[in-house]
Amino acid sequence: MIDANQTLGQVATAHPASTLVFLRHRLDFCCGGGQRLDEACRSAGLDPARVIREIESEGTTRTPERWDAKPLPDLIDFILGRYHEPLRADLPALIEAARRVERVHGKKPSCPTGLASLLEQLAAELEQHMMKEEHALFPAIRAGRRGGPVHMPIRVMMQEHDDHGANLRRLRELATGFAPPVEACATWRALYAGLEKLESELMEHIHLENNVLFPRALNA
Ligand SMILES: [Fe+2]
Ligand SMILES: [Fe+2]
Repeated sequence: MIDANQTLGQVATAHPASTLVFLRHRLDFCCGGGQRLDEACRSAGLDPARVIREIESEGTTRTPERWDAKPLPDLIDFILGRYHEPLRADLPALIEAARRVERVHGKKPSCPTGLASLLEQLAAELEQHMMKEEHALFPAIRAGRRGGPVHMPIRVMMQEHDDHGANLRRLRELATGFAPPVEACATWRALYAGLEKLESELMEHIHLENNVLFPRALNA
């Protein structure tokens, strides 16, 4: 049973299929995961009861894994394999496609000028961030450090997640909500589809760290 008083992060943790509904309605469950479901729905002009019904029916067709009770090292392995590795694999091709679109279509008013450099900046910041998680924070959590000793690195990682969230919003704005214009070529369309996937995966990734891994490492 989903309670509208719960936060988006709590609902996303206990009902993983809800992330699909949140993405559909543009409700920020990762960096904004502390907002209450009813308040977030109201400020987006949505009926909370309807959103809850959607989550419940989504949950019957797709049941992604719940991570709030599994061992933290397993969750870390999942984050690395499902999010860190694919990010490193996908970003270079997206940057290359953005460069090509800007080079070929730069004169069109609909061209997303500046997209390639924004993606390069996002890629560099993500690489540094993931290195810190992989070489410092995650090994500390795997080694059983909890509470105080991981407090500071977690705070830094959460601040950086806010920066990634801000970059994602700029990305969506620059790429007109990832809806390609009628004149868009195949590369342009593939680029926007790839960016939309990058956005949803990065939001799920940040959600699992901010709302599941980090609170558990701080409280256990
Ligand atoms: Fe991460
Ligand atoms: Fe992270």
